[in-house]
Amino acid sequence: MFKWQLINDSITQEDKQQLIDYISVDNVRFTQGSKVKEFENAWSEWLDVKHSVFVNSGASANYIMVSILKELKGTGEVIVPTLGWVSDVSPIVNLGLKPVFVDVSLETFSTDLEKIKPLVNKNTIGVTLVHCLGFNAITDKLVDYCKENDLFLIEDCCESHGATYNSQKIGTFGDVSNFSFYFGHHMTTIEGGMVCTNDDEIFQYAKMFRSHGMTRLDYLQDDELGMKLQKKYETLYPDLNPLFTFAVPGYNVRNQELNAVLGLSQIKRLDYNIDRRVENLNIWIDSLSKEKFFVDFTIEGNSNFALPLIVLNSDKNRFIRVCDILEDNQVEYRIGTAGGGNQAKQPYLEKYDYYAGDLPNSDYIHEFALYIGNHSELKEEQIKELCKKLNEES
Ligand SMILES: Cc1ncc(COP(=O)(O)O)c(C=O)c1O
Repeated sequence: MFKWQLINDSITQEDKQQLIDYISVDNVRFTQGSKVKEFENAWSEWLDVKHSVFVNSGASANYIMVSILKELKGTGEVIVPTLGWVSDVSPIVNLGLKPVFVDVSLETFSTDLEKIKPLVNKNTIGVTLVHCLGFNAITDKLVDYCKENDLFLIEDCCESHGATYNSQKIGTFGDVSNFSFYFGHHMTTIEGGMVCTNDDEIFQYAKMFRSHGMTRLDYLQDDELGMKLQKKYETLYPDLNPLFTFAVPGYNVRNQELNAVLGLSQIKRLDYNIDRRVENLNIWIDSLSKEKFFVDFTIEGNSNFALPLIVLNSDKNRFIRVCDILEDNQVEYRIGTAGGGNQAKQPYLEKYDYYAGDLPNSDYIHEFALYIGNHSELKEEQIKELCKKLNEES
Protein backbone atom coordinates (compact mmCIF):
# COMPACT_ATOMS: atom_id res chain seq x y z
CA MET A 1 0.00 0.00 0.00
CA PHE A 2 1.45 3.38 -1.03
CA LYS A 3 1.55 6.21 1.51
CA TRP A 4 0.92 8.72 -1.27
CA GLN A 5 -1.56 7.06 -3.58
CA LEU A 6 -2.52 8.01 -7.09
CA ILE A 7 -6.15 8.18 -6.06
CA ASN A 8 -7.61 8.85 -2.60
CA ASP A 9 -11.09 7.87 -1.52
CA SER A 10 -13.08 11.06 -2.03
CA ILE A 11 -16.53 9.75 -1.13
CA THR A 12 -17.29 11.26 2.29
CA GLN A 13 -19.69 10.17 5.04
CA GLU A 14 -21.93 13.08 3.98
CA ASP A 15 -22.01 11.70 0.41
CA LYS A 16 -22.88 8.24 1.75
CA GLN A 17 -25.65 9.71 3.90
CA GLN A 18 -27.17 11.34 0.80
CA LEU A 19 -27.24 7.93 -0.89
CA ILE A 20 -28.81 6.28 2.18
CA ASP A 21 -31.44 9.01 2.44
CA TYR A 22 -32.27 8.63 -1.24
CA ILE A 23 -32.87 4.87 -1.12
CA SER A 24 -34.66 4.92 2.23
CA VAL A 25 -38.00 6.13 0.89
CA ASP A 26 -40.73 3.93 -0.60
CA ASN A 27 -41.07 3.45 -4.36
CA VAL A 28 -37.60 4.83 -5.03
CA ARG A 29 -36.59 5.14 -8.68
CA PHE A 30 -33.12 3.78 -9.47
CA THR A 31 -32.91 4.09 -13.25
CA GLN A 32 -32.38 7.41 -15.04
CA GLY A 33 -34.99 9.90 -13.83
CA SER A 34 -35.40 13.24 -12.08
CA LYS A 35 -32.10 13.08 -10.11
CA VAL A 36 -30.16 12.59 -13.35
CA LYS A 37 -31.90 15.66 -14.75
CA GLU A 38 -31.20 17.64 -11.55
CA PHE A 39 -27.50 16.75 -11.75
CA GLU A 40 -27.39 17.65 -15.46
CA ASN A 41 -28.90 21.06 -14.64
CA ALA A 42 -26.46 21.61 -11.75
CA TRP A 43 -23.54 20.69 -14.03
CA SER A 44 -24.75 23.02 -16.83
CA GLU A 45 -24.99 25.82 -14.29
CA TRP A 46 -21.51 25.12 -12.85
CA LEU A 47 -19.94 24.95 -16.33
CA ASP A 48 -22.08 27.74 -17.78
CA VAL A 49 -23.25 25.74 -20.75
CA LYS A 50 -26.76 25.29 -22.19
CA HIS A 51 -27.07 21.49 -22.15
CA SER A 52 -25.51 18.51 -20.32
CA VAL A 53 -26.23 14.80 -20.80
CA PHE A 54 -25.22 12.42 -17.99
CA VAL A 55 -23.82 9.08 -19.20
CA ASN A 56 -22.15 6.09 -17.57
CA SER A 57 -18.50 7.10 -18.27
CA GLY A 58 -16.22 9.66 -19.84
CA ALA A 59 -15.39 7.05 -22.49
CA SER A 60 -19.08 6.62 -23.38
CA ALA A 61 -19.20 10.38 -23.76
CA ASN A 62 -16.27 10.12 -26.22
CA TYR A 63 -18.28 7.58 -28.24
CA ILE A 64 -21.32 9.86 -28.29
CA MET A 65 -19.28 12.87 -29.42
CA VAL A 66 -17.63 11.06 -32.34
CA SER A 67 -20.98 9.49 -33.30
CA ILE A 68 -22.49 12.98 -33.52
CA LEU A 69 -19.52 14.14 -35.58
CA LYS A 70 -20.18 11.29 -38.03
CA GLU A 71 -23.93 12.05 -38.19
CA LEU A 72 -23.23 15.69 -39.03
CA LYS A 73 -20.16 15.40 -41.29
CA GLY A 74 -20.04 11.84 -42.62
CA THR A 75 -16.75 9.96 -42.78
CA GLY A 76 -13.23 11.41 -43.02
CA GLU A 77 -10.17 12.25 -40.94
CA VAL A 78 -10.18 13.42 -37.34
CA ILE A 79 -7.11 15.10 -35.86
CA VAL A 80 -6.47 13.76 -32.38
CA PRO A 81 -3.56 14.30 -29.96
CA THR A 82 -1.26 11.48 -28.96
CA LEU A 83 -1.74 12.21 -25.27
CA GLY A 84 -5.16 11.64 -23.78
CA TRP A 85 -7.01 8.40 -23.36
CA VAL A 86 -7.74 5.40 -25.61
CA SER A 87 -11.39 6.49 -25.89
CA ASP A 88 -10.32 9.65 -27.71
CA VAL A 89 -9.19 7.37 -30.54
CA SER A 90 -11.16 4.09 -30.33
CA PRO A 91 -14.54 5.61 -31.37
CA ILE A 92 -12.82 7.16 -34.40
CA VAL A 93 -11.57 3.80 -35.67
CA ASN A 94 -14.65 1.86 -34.57
CA LEU A 95 -16.90 4.28 -36.46
CA GLY A 96 -14.84 3.92 -39.64
CA LEU A 97 -13.13 7.31 -39.47
CA LYS A 98 -9.36 7.87 -39.67
CA PRO A 99 -7.38 9.20 -36.70
CA VAL A 100 -4.58 11.60 -37.63
CA PHE A 101 -2.26 11.98 -34.66
CA VAL A 102 -0.94 15.40 -33.76
CA ASP A 103 1.98 16.11 -31.43
CA VAL A 104 1.71 17.99 -28.12
CA SER A 105 3.87 20.52 -26.31
CA LEU A 106 5.78 19.98 -23.07
CA GLU A 107 4.32 23.22 -21.67
CA THR A 108 0.70 21.99 -21.67
CA PHE A 109 0.84 18.27 -22.55
CA SER A 110 -1.81 19.32 -25.09
CA THR A 111 -1.69 20.25 -28.76
CA ASP A 112 -2.06 23.65 -30.44
CA LEU A 113 -3.07 25.27 -33.73
CA GLU A 114 0.44 25.40 -35.21
CA LYS A 115 0.74 21.63 -34.89
CA ILE A 116 -2.80 21.00 -36.16
CA LYS A 117 -2.73 23.19 -39.29
CA PRO A 118 -0.25 21.15 -41.41
CA LEU A 119 -2.40 18.03 -40.87
CA VAL A 120 -5.63 19.55 -42.20
CA ASN A 121 -6.66 18.58 -45.74
CA LYS A 122 -9.89 18.24 -47.75
CA ASN A 123 -10.79 15.02 -45.89
CA THR A 124 -10.50 16.51 -42.39
CA ILE A 125 -13.89 16.72 -40.68
CA GLY A 126 -13.00 17.34 -37.06
CA VAL A 127 -10.44 18.08 -34.36
CA THR A 128 -10.35 16.55 -30.89
CA LEU A 129 -8.62 18.69 -28.31
CA VAL A 130 -7.67 16.94 -25.08
CA HIS A 131 -7.04 19.24 -22.14
CA CYS A 132 -4.45 16.90 -20.70
CA LEU A 133 -3.63 16.63 -16.96
CA GLY A 134 -5.56 19.83 -16.15
CA PHE A 135 -3.89 22.12 -18.70
CA ASN A 136 -5.94 24.40 -20.92
CA ALA A 137 -5.41 23.83 -24.66
CA ILE A 138 -7.94 26.34 -26.06
CA THR A 139 -6.99 29.55 -27.85
CA ASP A 140 -9.25 31.97 -29.74
CA LYS A 141 -7.20 31.35 -32.86
CA LEU A 142 -7.86 27.61 -32.68
CA VAL A 143 -11.62 28.06 -32.18
CA ASP A 144 -11.77 30.58 -35.07
CA TYR A 145 -9.72 28.31 -37.34
CA CYS A 146 -12.09 25.38 -36.74
CA LYS A 147 -15.13 27.57 -37.47
CA GLU A 148 -13.57 29.05 -40.63
CA ASN A 149 -12.61 25.60 -41.93
CA ASP A 150 -15.87 23.88 -40.97
CA LEU A 151 -14.11 21.50 -38.56
CA PHE A 152 -16.17 20.00 -35.75
CA LEU A 153 -14.35 20.79 -32.52
CA ILE A 154 -14.48 18.23 -29.71
CA GLU A 155 -13.07 19.20 -26.29
CA ASP A 156 -12.13 16.33 -23.99
CA CYS A 157 -12.08 17.82 -20.48
CA CYS A 158 -12.04 14.52 -18.57
CA GLU A 159 -8.79 15.50 -16.80
CA SER A 160 -9.46 19.22 -16.52
CA HIS A 161 -12.73 20.09 -14.77
CA GLY A 162 -12.66 23.82 -14.04
CA ALA A 163 -9.63 24.71 -16.18
CA THR A 164 -10.17 28.09 -17.85
CA TYR A 165 -9.16 30.16 -20.85
CA ASN A 166 -9.58 33.93 -20.40
CA SER A 167 -11.61 33.17 -17.24
CA GLN A 168 -14.13 31.05 -19.20
CA LYS A 169 -14.32 27.36 -18.33
CA ILE A 170 -13.00 24.96 -20.95
CA GLY A 171 -15.65 22.62 -22.31
CA THR A 172 -17.68 25.63 -23.48
CA PHE A 173 -15.60 26.60 -26.54
CA GLY A 174 -15.95 23.62 -28.88
CA ASP A 175 -19.06 22.17 -30.54
CA VAL A 176 -19.26 19.54 -27.83
CA SER A 177 -17.24 18.52 -24.77
CA ASN A 178 -17.02 15.72 -22.26
CA PHE A 179 -16.07 15.19 -18.61
CA SER A 180 -15.34 12.07 -16.57
CA PHE A 181 -16.50 11.45 -13.02
CA TYR A 182 -14.51 8.28 -12.58
CA PHE A 183 -13.06 7.70 -9.13
CA GLY A 184 -9.94 9.89 -8.79
CA HIS A 185 -10.99 12.73 -11.09
CA HIS A 186 -11.80 16.21 -9.70
CA MET A 187 -15.10 14.79 -8.46
CA THR A 188 -16.69 11.38 -8.74
CA THR A 189 -20.01 9.65 -9.36
CA ILE A 190 -18.11 6.30 -9.06
CA GLU A 191 -18.45 5.78 -12.81
CA GLY A 192 -19.90 8.58 -14.90
CA GLY A 193 -19.41 11.12 -17.62
CA MET A 194 -21.08 14.20 -19.11
CA VAL A 195 -21.57 15.40 -22.67
CA CYS A 196 -21.98 19.19 -22.84
CA THR A 197 -22.98 21.58 -25.62
CA ASN A 198 -24.57 24.94 -26.34
CA ASP A 199 -26.16 23.57 -29.52
CA ASP A 200 -29.79 22.32 -29.41
CA GLU A 201 -29.35 19.84 -32.28
CA ILE A 202 -26.19 18.31 -30.79
CA PHE A 203 -28.02 18.02 -27.47
CA GLN A 204 -30.82 16.01 -29.10
CA TYR A 205 -28.27 13.76 -30.81
CA ALA A 206 -26.43 13.20 -27.51
CA LYS A 207 -29.65 12.11 -25.81
CA MET A 208 -30.58 9.79 -28.69
CA PHE A 209 -27.13 8.18 -28.81
CA ARG A 210 -27.24 7.73 -25.01
CA SER A 211 -30.45 5.73 -25.17
CA HIS A 212 -30.54 3.23 -28.06
CA GLY A 213 -30.89 5.93 -30.74
CA MET A 214 -34.56 6.31 -29.75
CA THR A 215 -36.53 9.46 -30.45
CA ARG A 216 -38.35 8.88 -27.14
CA LEU A 217 -35.85 10.95 -25.18
CA ASP A 218 -37.67 12.39 -22.29
CA TYR A 219 -38.54 10.06 -19.51
CA LEU A 220 -40.00 13.07 -17.68
CA GLN A 221 -41.76 14.31 -20.84
CA ASP A 222 -41.03 17.87 -19.77
CA ASP A 223 -38.44 18.93 -22.34
CA GLU A 224 -39.91 21.03 -25.11
CA LEU A 225 -37.07 20.30 -27.57
CA GLY A 226 -37.31 16.56 -26.94
CA MET A 227 -41.08 16.51 -27.38
CA LYS A 228 -40.73 18.44 -30.65
CA LEU A 229 -38.23 15.90 -31.95
CA GLN A 230 -40.56 13.03 -31.04
CA LYS A 231 -43.44 14.72 -32.89
CA LYS A 232 -41.24 15.35 -35.94
CA TYR A 233 -40.44 11.65 -36.27
CA GLU A 234 -44.08 10.68 -35.65
CA THR A 235 -45.10 12.83 -38.61
CA LEU A 236 -42.26 11.64 -40.86
CA TYR A 237 -42.74 7.94 -40.07
CA PRO A 238 -46.46 7.41 -39.37
CA ASP A 239 -46.17 3.62 -39.85
CA LEU A 240 -43.68 3.33 -36.93
CA ASN A 241 -44.56 3.04 -33.27
CA PRO A 242 -43.49 6.50 -31.93
CA LEU A 243 -42.32 4.86 -28.71
CA PHE A 244 -39.92 2.63 -30.66
CA THR A 245 -38.52 4.82 -33.40
CA PHE A 246 -34.74 4.63 -33.74
CA ALA A 247 -33.32 7.67 -35.54
CA VAL A 248 -29.58 7.00 -35.08
CA PRO A 249 -27.53 3.84 -34.43
CA GLY A 250 -27.29 4.49 -30.70
CA TYR A 251 -26.01 2.80 -27.55
CA ASN A 252 -27.34 2.31 -24.06
CA VAL A 253 -24.94 4.35 -21.93
CA ARG A 254 -27.42 5.90 -19.52
CA ASN A 255 -26.42 6.53 -15.92
CA GLN A 256 -28.54 6.05 -12.80
CA GLU A 257 -30.26 8.02 -10.06
CA LEU A 258 -27.83 6.99 -7.27
CA ASN A 259 -24.83 8.18 -9.29
CA ALA A 260 -26.60 11.49 -9.86
CA VAL A 261 -27.33 11.83 -6.12
CA LEU A 262 -23.60 11.36 -5.49
CA GLY A 263 -22.78 13.90 -8.21
CA LEU A 264 -25.10 16.46 -6.62
CA SER A 265 -23.38 15.94 -3.29
CA GLN A 266 -19.84 16.04 -4.73
CA ILE A 267 -20.32 19.10 -6.93
CA LYS A 268 -20.64 21.21 -3.75
CA ARG A 269 -16.93 20.55 -3.01
CA LEU A 270 -15.67 20.76 -6.59
CA ASP A 271 -14.43 24.36 -6.58
CA TYR A 272 -12.72 23.85 -3.22
CA ASN A 273 -10.94 20.73 -4.52
CA ILE A 274 -9.85 22.49 -7.69
CA ASP A 275 -8.37 25.41 -5.71
CA ARG A 276 -6.41 23.05 -3.43
CA ARG A 277 -5.06 21.05 -6.38
CA VAL A 278 -3.91 24.21 -8.16
CA GLU A 279 -2.14 25.38 -4.99
CA ASN A 280 -0.41 21.99 -4.78
CA LEU A 281 0.73 22.23 -8.42
CA ASN A 282 2.21 25.68 -7.82
CA ILE A 283 4.18 24.43 -4.79
CA TRP A 284 5.33 21.39 -6.81
CA ILE A 285 6.61 23.47 -9.74
CA ASP A 286 8.26 26.08 -7.48
CA SER A 287 10.05 23.39 -5.46
CA LEU A 288 11.48 21.27 -8.31
CA SER A 289 15.06 21.76 -9.53
CA LYS A 290 15.06 23.72 -12.79
CA GLU A 291 18.35 22.08 -13.75
CA LYS A 292 17.01 18.56 -13.52
CA PHE A 293 13.33 18.85 -14.36
CA PHE A 294 11.19 20.68 -16.91
CA VAL A 295 9.19 23.33 -15.06
CA ASP A 296 8.12 25.79 -17.76
CA PHE A 297 4.52 24.64 -17.74
CA THR A 298 1.79 27.02 -18.89
CA ILE A 299 -0.12 27.13 -15.65
CA GLU A 300 -2.57 29.91 -16.46
CA GLY A 301 -6.09 28.51 -16.22
CA ASN A 302 -4.79 25.14 -15.01
CA SER A 303 -7.00 22.82 -12.94
CA ASN A 304 -4.50 20.15 -12.02
CA PHE A 305 -5.36 16.46 -12.40
CA ALA A 306 -2.04 14.97 -11.21
CA LEU A 307 1.44 16.38 -10.51
CA PRO A 308 3.65 16.00 -13.63
CA LEU A 309 7.39 15.38 -13.69
CA ILE A 310 9.53 15.57 -16.83
CA VAL A 311 13.25 14.70 -16.58
CA LEU A 312 15.43 17.01 -18.72
CA ASN A 313 18.19 16.16 -21.25
CA SER A 314 16.95 12.62 -22.11
CA ASP A 315 18.68 11.47 -18.93
CA LYS A 316 17.51 7.84 -18.64
CA ASN A 317 19.60 7.15 -15.55
CA ARG A 318 18.05 10.08 -13.72
CA PHE A 319 14.58 8.93 -14.78
CA ILE A 320 15.30 5.48 -13.30
CA ARG A 321 16.62 7.06 -10.08
CA VAL A 322 13.48 9.22 -9.84
CA CYS A 323 11.31 6.08 -10.08
CA ASP A 324 13.42 4.44 -7.36
CA ILE A 325 13.07 7.46 -5.06
CA LEU A 326 9.30 7.44 -5.51
CA GLU A 327 9.10 3.73 -4.78
CA ASP A 328 11.37 4.01 -1.71
CA ASN A 329 9.09 6.74 -0.38
CA GLN A 330 5.93 4.78 -1.19
CA VAL A 331 4.69 7.32 -3.72
CA GLU A 332 2.56 5.74 -6.41
CA TYR A 333 3.33 6.97 -9.94
CA ARG A 334 2.51 6.30 -13.58
CA ILE A 335 4.94 6.68 -16.46
CA GLY A 336 3.91 8.88 -19.40
CA THR A 337 0.49 10.46 -18.92
CA ALA A 338 -2.89 9.25 -17.69
CA GLY A 339 -3.48 7.50 -21.02
CA GLY A 340 -0.18 5.57 -20.94
CA GLY A 341 1.84 8.08 -22.98
CA ASN A 342 1.94 8.19 -26.77
CA GLN A 343 -1.33 6.60 -27.92
CA ALA A 344 0.01 6.17 -31.49
CA LYS A 345 2.22 3.33 -30.17
CA GLN A 346 -0.71 1.16 -29.02
CA PRO A 347 -1.19 -2.25 -30.69
CA TYR A 348 -4.94 -1.96 -31.33
CA LEU A 349 -4.16 0.57 -34.09
CA GLU A 350 -2.28 -1.97 -36.20
CA LYS A 351 -5.53 -3.24 -37.76
CA TYR A 352 -6.80 0.23 -38.68
CA ASP A 353 -5.98 3.06 -41.05
CA TYR A 354 -4.32 5.91 -39.14
CA TYR A 355 -1.62 8.53 -39.64
CA ALA A 356 1.20 9.28 -37.23
CA GLY A 357 4.10 11.43 -38.43
CA ASP A 358 6.96 12.75 -36.31
CA LEU A 359 5.85 13.09 -32.71
CA PRO A 360 8.99 14.22 -30.85
CA ASN A 361 7.33 15.76 -27.78
CA SER A 362 4.90 12.86 -27.34
CA ASP A 363 7.79 10.43 -27.58
CA TYR A 364 9.78 12.44 -25.04
CA ILE A 365 6.89 12.50 -22.57
CA HIS A 366 6.31 8.79 -23.20
CA GLU A 367 9.86 8.05 -22.11
CA PHE A 368 10.90 10.77 -19.66
CA ALA A 369 7.69 11.90 -17.94
CA LEU A 370 5.59 10.53 -15.13
CA TYR A 371 2.93 11.81 -12.78
CA ILE A 372 1.92 11.30 -9.17
CA GLY A 373 -1.40 11.85 -7.37
CA ASN A 374 -2.62 15.32 -6.44
CA HIS A 375 -5.15 15.30 -3.61
CA SER A 376 -6.92 18.25 -2.03
CA GLU A 377 -5.66 17.16 1.40
CA LEU A 378 -1.93 17.13 0.48
CA LYS A 379 0.20 19.29 2.79
CA GLU A 380 2.70 21.91 1.62
CA GLU A 381 5.53 20.33 3.70
CA GLN A 382 4.80 16.91 2.18
CA ILE A 383 5.16 18.23 -1.38
CA LYS A 384 8.29 20.22 -0.54
CA GLU A 385 9.90 17.27 1.22
CA LEU A 386 9.38 15.00 -1.80
CA CYS A 387 10.74 17.67 -4.18
CA LYS A 388 13.82 18.04 -1.95
CA LYS A 389 14.49 14.31 -2.19
CA LEU A 390 13.99 14.31 -5.97
CA ASN A 391 16.27 17.34 -6.37
CA GLU A 392 19.05 16.07 -4.11
CA GLU A 393 19.03 12.33 -4.63
CA SER A 394 18.33 11.92 -8.36
C1 LIG B 1 -8.65 12.39 -21.34
C2 LIG B 1 -9.61 11.29 -20.94
N1 LIG B 1 -10.69 11.06 -21.70
C3 LIG B 1 -11.57 10.09 -21.39
C4 LIG B 1 -11.41 9.32 -20.28
C5 LIG B 1 -12.40 8.23 -19.99
O1 LIG B 1 -13.12 8.48 -18.81
P1 LIG B 1 -13.77 7.25 -18.00
O2 LIG B 1 -12.70 6.61 -17.22
O3 LIG B 1 -14.81 7.92 -17.15
O4 LIG B 1 -14.37 6.36 -19.01
C6 LIG B 1 -10.30 9.50 -19.45
C7 LIG B 1 -10.09 8.64 -18.28
O5 LIG B 1 -9.64 8.97 -17.26
C8 LIG B 1 -9.37 10.52 -19.79
O6 LIG B 1 -8.27 10.72 -19.03
